[in-house]
This record gives sequence, structure tokens and C-alpha cells, in this order.
Amino acid sequence: MCGIFAASLQQQVANQLLSGLESLEYRGYDSAGMAVLNAAGQLQLVRVAGKVANLRQRLAEQGVHGQLGIAHTRWATHGGATQANAHPHLYQGLAMVHNGIIEQQALLAQAPELAQQPWLSDTDSERLLRWLALGWRQASDKLLYLQQQLASVQGQYSLVLIDQQQPDCLWAARSGSPLVLGRSEQGAYLASDSQALQPWCHERALLDEGAVLQLQGQEWQLRDAQGQQQEPKWQGFSQQQQRVDRNGYAHYMHQEIHQQPEVLASSWQQLMTNGKPRLERLGSGAEQLLKQVKEVQILACGSSHHAALIAKYWYEAHLQLPVRVEIASEYRYRQSVCQADTLLMVISQSGETADTLAALRHARQQGYLASLGICNQAESSLAQEVDYLLLTQAGPEISVASTKALLCQLQALAWLQLAFAYVRQAPNWQHWADQLDALPESISHSLSHEQQIRQWALDLPLLPCCLVLGRGPSYPLAQEAALKLQEICYRPVLAFAGGELKHGPLALLEPGMVVIVLAGEPHLANKMAANIAEVQARGAEVWLLSEGQLPVIANRQLNLAEQDPWLAPLRLLPLVQLLAYHRALSQGELIDQPRNLAKSVTVE
Ligand code: G6P
Repeated sequence: MCGIFAASLQQQVANQLLSGLESLEYRGYDSAGMAVLNAAGQLQLVRVAGKVANLRQRLAEQGVHGQLGIAHTRWATHGGATQANAHPHLYQGLAMVHNGIIEQQALLAQAPELAQQPWLSDTDSERLLRWLALGWRQASDKLLYLQQQLASVQGQYSLVLIDQQQPDCLWAARSGSPLVLGRSEQGAYLASDSQALQPWCHERALLDEGAVLQLQGQEWQLRDAQGQQQEPKWQGFSQQQQRVDRNGYAHYMHQEIHQQPEVLASSWQQLMTNGKPRLERLGSGAEQLLKQVKEVQILACGSSHHAALIAKYWYEAHLQLPVRVEIASEYRYRQSVCQADTLLMVISQSGETADTLAALRHARQQGYLASLGICNQAESSLAQEVDYLLLTQAGPEISVASTKALLCQLQALAWLQLAFAYVRQAPNWQHWADQLDALPESISHSLSHEQQIRQWALDLPLLPCCLVLGRGPSYPLAQEAALKLQEICYRPVLAFAGGELKHGPLALLEPGMVVIVLAGEPHLANKMAANIAEVQARGAEVWLLSEGQLPVIANRQLNLAEQDPWLAPLRLLPLVQLLAYHRALSQGELIDQPRNLAKSVTVE
């Protein structure tokens, strides 16, 4: 998945294209490029391997001039992160940027003459451009041609195309990947998200699935998936889309970790009214829905999946509500069973994760009672497609490794637990509300241990590998800790349930190795103590992050004061976030943009 920014202005376009790309780098950052057309139809192409900063530097050496241009920041799917594979791609006077994945074998089967051509890149995008170019010159209605030609393309895309022979025009299309149109006094814009448009535009309009657009000067023609003329659905910008500064923090990740108490507190205000859950936050009819649910199926990827696994422990123990959790990419390709009155929940901070969206669409055929999304992006595809929506209020999260968005998902899932209890008139809901009310302060307390965690991070040996153990809800927390350390420290960190230690992981232990143990469940304290003894008996060290005392002496220990264990994983979470952050910092890694990853995985 990649970021697209394009504009047709009444002034030079290159600087705005660069700024737009910078705010889209969360979508990928392994290579970048732009193509700018001047009024004489001269096409100037600049592409670099690496980040947008490299493109900025190249443009400082080699200026481009013109008022119409397309730009792209890439996350490699087909072909390496090289200059040749960077977008825009050129062919016969056309230049195109593309986000998505095209099934190129199917495309080439339709046009065998293409398969014979020498290619300039390894990308599916270049194949798509040549497919679109086949009848382009002959087509009198370019928009109609584009739509017809795209109708036989399998895969997903958003794309913007320019033509040397029509230097005042650009064309765009989307199917499966987002594209937003923006306008200002200076001109018209297209971008992969609204946030990139916000500094330049006073209004924006999301393009619908299957839409195609032609922009000529300030005039646009928009057609929907059926080829009917459409008016863009213009909207203003909400406050949340303000540009984000690091405010003195060296990294967004560090800032986002420290924003957690504040975002939890403001989210909490919006989830409750007069001390009761504001059920209308979910959509109308939510109360009846929550009463009717007999089972829950949750689908998600990455950190969002870990949030779901923690909720499973909660809902089954506290609500006696059966919960199944599955990774979206697995669920979407298998035959599954849907029991009557099962609520489908999908969790995604971005709301654009391709597997999660595909799983949601697949699940729609299975007969669920309704779908409920937990998402941090009001305009995302997921937010539009679910029946009920619980919008988290984490604010923009820039760092690829998720921190505050995950904690807000967990808060939302915990709030849902109390909402279920409230509508079913279970007595505990008030007790849970009190605990959630106190959560922001507890998270501040967890963060106050930063210096101690920083020292752990400096001392932590991660080679040849490191293990993280947990039991109960601390097991998915251990999975999240391992993921964070892998994502930004580039070391093999493996998570296991404590009880699984003897079934293989013990073989990895050797003197000097560190096993991080997470323990927030008093009823499992003795069991975890036994695991710790097993580790220490083999000469490995145990570094324990716990809430409440365990009957054991770990090699290192950070113990949070004991509270009701329900929210212990949330209080331990900032400790593992800080551990990963400070470890990556000490290694000198590029923390906010880890290699090979992207924040929003909009391709399969
Ligand atoms: C990517 C991100 C992760 C995130 C996962 C799921 O891999 O790097 O931080 O957990 O996608 O993303 P979602 O937006 O669906 O929560």
C-alpha cells in the first residue's frame, strides 16, 4: 500500500506535492517520486529509493516546474524498493501513480501482447499502466474508456494518471483503496487520505467505490461505478485532522505513549453520560442489539488482534458471553460456523486493513446478527461498512507501531463489557465503570516508571532471541510485547503462554538469556511462579513486570501496586511499550518508520 498525492493548481505544484507525501508516509516509505507537467506538455519525472526526505533533497538539486503533478510514496509489494520500481511509472506519454495490488497474470492473459514487452520495473503498477494505455490514444471519452478498461482488472487500486498530450488534465479511479478529492482557491487535489489535504483545502469529498474522475483545470467530471454523473459529496474538515507536531518529543511513538492518559480521559468523557454508558455512541438500536447477543466473533490483525484476545478473557469470565477471536486473514479464506445471534466485531485502528475489510465482507454472507466496528478513523472504509460503530478517540497515531490506538481499543472493549452488563442489568457494571474512570491516572502511574524501564532496555540482551511469557489476559499482552520489540528493534522475540514453556520453548533457554514475564492475574501467581523457577533453573534470567506480588524472586522486578486485576493488562501495557521504545532508541533505530512495515496495510 502506498500514498498518493496529486494536484492541479494555479501556482507551482512541487512543494505541495512534497508536503502531501510527507503526511502520507505512514502508508509506506521505501521509495518516492513525482511527475510534473508544464503547460508545454513537458513531463518531468523524479524518483528516488528511500524516504520522501530523499526526494526533497533530489528536487533541491534538480528543480521541476509546472502546475499539475502526481506524487507517490511507496510500500513495496511487487519488486524491491528501488528507483526503477518507484512511482510514477511512465509509458507512451502517460504517467501514473497507483496504490493497491493488481492480479497481473489475469491482466496479461487478457492482453498477451503486453506479456512480450520488455518491462522497466517489476511492479504490477507498470502492467496496469500499459493495460490502460492500450486504447487510450484512440478513446474520445477518456473517462468512459478508463472505466471500461478497469472493469476487467482484478485486484484493488486507487490511481491517478496524467497525459503529456493533455497537460491541463488528470484522471483518477478507485476500487478497494481510498482516494479523496479536495479543493481550494488555488486548485484541486487528490490524496489517499483527508489529513494530507487539510493544510491546503477547505473542502474534501471521498470518492465512492468504483468511481472515476476527470479533472480539467478547475472543472471535474465524476462518474459512479455505474457510469452515472455524480456530484462530489463535499464536507469540511473536523478538528481531529489538524496537523500533528512532535512537541519536543524525539519520536512520535514516545509522544503517543505519553498521550495515553489524556486520550483515555477524553474518550471516557464521551463514552459515559451521567455515570451511565452512552449506548447511542454505537448507533441507534444498540441497546436492543446488546440484549440479544448470545455470542461474539471478533476479527482483526496485528495489535488489534491482541486487543480482541484480551477481550475474550474478559467477556467469557465476566459476562459468560462466548467469544471467538480470529485473525482476519485466516477467517476470510475458510469455511466457518456462525451460531444464531452472534455479533460480529471487527477491530482496526485504521479501518483500512485489507484483510480485516475482506473478512468483514466475507462475514456478511454468514448470517451474523449485526456487525460492530471498533475503529479510530471516522472516514475509513470499515467505519462506513459496519452496522454499528464505536469510534475510538486516540487522535492521529503517526508511529507505525501502535500504542495509544491499541490502548483506546482496549478501553472501548472494556466499556463494551460494561455496556453489555448495563443493558442486561448485571450488578457489576457500576464497579467496572469506577475502574475505567480511574484508568487514566493508573496509566500515568505506569508511565512514571519510565527511567527504570529505560535502564532495563539498555541492559536487555535480545540475542539469539528473547522470550516473553504470560498467562490469562497477560498472554495476549506478552504477544503484544513481542510484536513491539520485533517491529522496532528487529530482534526475534517470541511470546508463549506460561503453560506452554515445557512443550518446546524450554529448549531455547541458555545461561544469560532473558525471559520477560508479564503477570497481572493474582489467581495465576503460583502457576507463573513455577514457570519462573523452571526458567531460572536453566540459567536464564527472569525480568518480571507484574501487578501484585508473586511468591518468587525474579532477577529483575517492577511491580505495580495491586488493584482489581481486570484492567491489569492495560496498566502493564505502557511498560512494554516503553521497553521497546527505549531499546530501539539505544540501538539507534528509525523508530517511527520501522523497515519494511507500514501503518495502514491496505493490501493483502
Ligand atoms: C499494521 C500496523 C500494526 C497494526 C496492524 C493492524 O501491521 O503496523 O500496528 O496493529 O497493521 O492495523 P489496524 O489498522 O487494522 O488496526
